[in-house]
Amino acid sequence: MKHLVSTSLLACDFLNIGKEVTMVNKSIADWIHLDVMDGMFVPNISFGMPVVEHVKKIAEKPLDVHLMIIDPDRYLYRFHEAGANILTVQYEACVHLQRTVTEIRRLGMKAGVAINPHTPVAHLVNTLSFIDMVLIMTVNPGFGGQSFIHECYSKISELRTMIEKGGYNVLIEADGGIDTLNAGKLVETGVNVLVAGHSIFSSANPAETISKLKTLS
Ligand code: DX5
Ligand code: ZN
Repeated sequence: MKHLVSTSLLACDFLNIGKEVTMVNKSIADWIHLDVMDGMFVPNISFGMPVVEHVKKIAEKPLDVHLMIIDPDRYLYRFHEAGANILTVQYEACVHLQRTVTEIRRLGMKAGVAINPHTPVAHLVNTLSFIDMVLIMTVNPGFGGQSFIHECYSKISELRTMIEKGGYNVLIEADGGIDTLNAGKLVETGVNVLVAGHSIFSSANPAETISKLKTLS
């Protein structure tokens, strides 16, 4: 399968978010990544349902919503209403993870589980049959523009082996510090979806950077 690119709006110009979404619509990006932060699970606060809802009005690509919030069960329905197509919760924030991901699917969304750099992929062995995607955090969540943690490559290949051995229909998404230099190795290691924010929006030509991440040229 050809890998996908999910453009993280966290790094975009919020004053011109409409124009930024239009740029992503016109680009060859596959998904739009939206990072929701609560100032509790992570030290930062970003945005919530109203922003997702407004982006949805003009987005021509699926919304890939990443919840970095404690007790996400309280908001699954609200993010569904706001327009999320893929809803990812953090493993570390869920006490009853199987119930949470089952509810995400029941609402009609694809269910993702994100793991922090310190969380072993083995912790997901009993969850893979209930989800559509694992998001491997390749930085500590909370901020855009951080440096990629190289130790995450071994987690990606371990997860790829687990998925293949078990025959699960689960995508691997990598998120944090991804740019045109490390994208190729990530895909080779087994990543299906590359999330990128800073490397796209701080580049001179964001649409061209999206193309480079997509074609690995
Ligand atoms: C970090 C977020 C990421 C972030 C990635 O907590 O989950 O999605 O936007 O941004 P870059 O690509 O700038 O590292
Ligand atoms: Zn994210």
